[in-house]
Amino acid sequence: MDFQFSKRVPNLNNDVVGEILKVAGDPDIISFAGGLPAPELFPVKQMQKAANEVFEHDGQDALQYTASIGNPKLRSLVKNRMQTHKHISCDVNNVCITTGSEQSIDLIAKMMVNPGDVVLVEKPTYLCALDVFRSYGAKIIGVDMDDDGMKVDTLADTLEKYPEAKLIYTIPNFQNPTGRTMPANRREKVANLASQYDVIVMEDDPYGEIRYSGKAINPIKHFDPDGHVIYMSTFSKILAPGMRLGWIVADKKFVDMFVVMKQSADLHSDNLSQYIIARFMEENDLDAHIQKIRDVYYSRASMMIKEIDEQFPKGVKHSNPEGGMFIWVEVPGNINTMDLFNTCVEHNVAFVPGEPFYPDDVIPGTFRVNFSNMNDNQIHEGIRRMAVAIDEMMNK
Ligand SMILES: Cc1ncc(COP(=O)(O)O)c(C=O)c1O
Repeated sequence: MDFQFSKRVPNLNNDVVGEILKVAGDPDIISFAGGLPAPELFPVKQMQKAANEVFEHDGQDALQYTASIGNPKLRSLVKNRMQTHKHISCDVNNVCITTGSEQSIDLIAKMMVNPGDVVLVEKPTYLCALDVFRSYGAKIIGVDMDDDGMKVDTLADTLEKYPEAKLIYTIPNFQNPTGRTMPANRREKVANLASQYDVIVMEDDPYGEIRYSGKAINPIKHFDPDGHVIYMSTFSKILAPGMRLGWIVADKKFVDMFVVMKQSADLHSDNLSQYIIARFMEENDLDAHIQKIRDVYYSRASMMIKEIDEQFPKGVKHSNPEGGMFIWVEVPGNINTMDLFNTCVEHNVAFVPGEPFYPDDVIPGTFRVNFSNMNDNQIHEGIRRMAVAIDEMMNK
């Protein structure tokens, strides 16, 4: 049967990333393609204990429907963390629990974007966010980056050209895919530009807590003069993505409308998971747990960078992330990274080519590698295989 799907439904024949991840899933392949946290760091035992206690003490409530805005205890714990760790001025009414940041992105886009509306994004950016904006018919405009993230002068010029822009989507910490971080002066400028042009900033911060070197930088939301910034984060990278919980911090008026939109999306996020994470946070030292993640990722990132520096051909450049899960690599000489991907697969190693991360004109020769989910041997051997493949392509 021929289904008459809406215009929102993407063309499956164009699912390049799905195809890449399918190939990269072959067990013989060392895959730097995915973006998975290290599963050995999931706090399984502590989570099991928290879950048992929830069933024992709050079983009936935890299995019941709950408020769309989220579990009051979890919202309060998140609010405290936002104040102490992120220096965001907020109260519990500014916090809504979501079904991960992916839902936050989707609902905010649904609330703000009519077909043809302009959305500004970093170039390159998180490809699933691009898919969301496309699904609502946004006109997506890429803003150039440098090693310090989105160029704010270019952002200002772009806003001058598109003063009607509805959204600025940015990932200021250890950006996906580049691993780059925006310094404080740029963050403050973004907040002020948003106010000046009356445009909403979606500050997507799934990786901010996974800083393993350098000094923490206050979020854009910290500088928000008047409610134009929506801060989003998630338990996916600091606890467990399978529990599918994240949150937004925003102006109360925005949160009130967000909650109405969330009702029609899923009524509320998984109540049982909310109870369990709240209990986990009360009983455990979340900072100590995050420190373990930082230590492991630091070691893996350092190892991968060392291997890239030692093994990749001369002229190859890479980002130097201070946290997060990704390194961005730039190969000289107009190399098509889809072709490089195919050559790498022949050598049993995989990554994600740069193309799908670009909203518009693709910069050739770029790709993303993930280090969080691979052990030292896999990193050493995988980078060795990639080096051989890159060498082959560069000398073709
Ligand atoms: C930049 C960015 N935003 C959002 C998400 C989605 O996270 P969540 O698991 O909270 O839905 C990811 C996941 O990798 C991401 O990299």
